[in-house]
Order: sequence, then structure tokens, then C-alpha cells
Amino acid sequence: MVEFSELRLLAIEATKNAYTPYSHFPVGAAAEVDDGRIITGCNVENASYGLALCAECGLVSDLHRTGGGRIVRMSVVAADHKPVAPCGRCRQLLYEAGGPDLELDWDPEPICLSELLPMAFVPEQLDRSPDRRAQIDTTEGNFYE
Ligand code: THU
Repeated sequence: MVEFSELRLLAIEATKNAYTPYSHFPVGAAAEVDDGRIITGCNVENASYGLALCAECGLVSDLHRTGGGRIVRMSVVAADHKPVAPCGRCRQLLYEAGGPDLELDWDPEPICLSELLPMAFVPEQLDRSPDRRAQIDTTEGNFYE
């Protein structure tokens, strides 16, 4: 198991690669995957402000790029080295990649994603579609369960 203290150091390191000419608010993320792998991400902004990619987006991309699996614990920090609460969109992204039990580094103690995103929209809800094409293809893997 990778300690939160180590994940926080890796997240701090990731802030150094953030591209933030507009907000000047670098964010870094680091996580442990269920197979012990470590993944990271940083935020990447754009002249079209609304297109900014959060550090957690880069992290989820790194998850899939390096083989998929489920994120079990993670740290997201700003340049002041303190934890950042993931934005609403990222909470949903992280739910798909980690599920409700994903642990987030927080002060004074870690917090579960289920507390940050209660009543999440989950993939199973797609099964209510009358169109089978909308249903989950579990053979794709990487689905958090
Ligand atoms: N940001 C993240 O990277 N993650 C979050 O969860 C919150 C916000 C970034 C987006 C933008 O580049 C900057 O922080 C300011 O909002």
C-alpha cells in the first residue's frame, strides 16, 4: 500500500508540470491503482478558458494509458502543497475510475468519494435504457467493479 504522504509528494511534483498561464493555479494529482501502479496528472489550460483539463482528468487518462484498473487512493494538491477538493465534474470522472470507496487525501483525515459524491449517477443506471446499445459492456474492463 502506498502511503498518502508519498502520494502527496508525487502530486506536488506533478504541479510542476501543470500548464496554467490563465489561472496561475497549478494542480497535481497522484494515485495508487489496485495493482499497485502509481499514476499522476496535472491541469492543462487553454486560451479557450472553458476547455481547461483538471489534474484529475490527466490522472484518469494516465490510468487508462498505463493499463486501466481501479484507483484506490489519491492525493490532489495545489502549489501550496495542500489538498484540493476535486471539482464536481472530476468527482463523477473519479467515481467511474475508482468507485465509492476511493479514498482521497484530506485534512485532518482521508475522505471517501461516496461522501464527496452521494447519489452518484452510476453506469448501472444505463441498464434502464430500452436500447441495449446503451448498456454497459463489462468486457471492456476497467469498470470500477
Ligand atoms: N482544477 C483542477 O485541476 N482540479 C480541480 O479539481 C479543481 C480545479 C484546475 C482547473 C484550472 O486549471 C485551475 O484549477 C483553476 O480552476
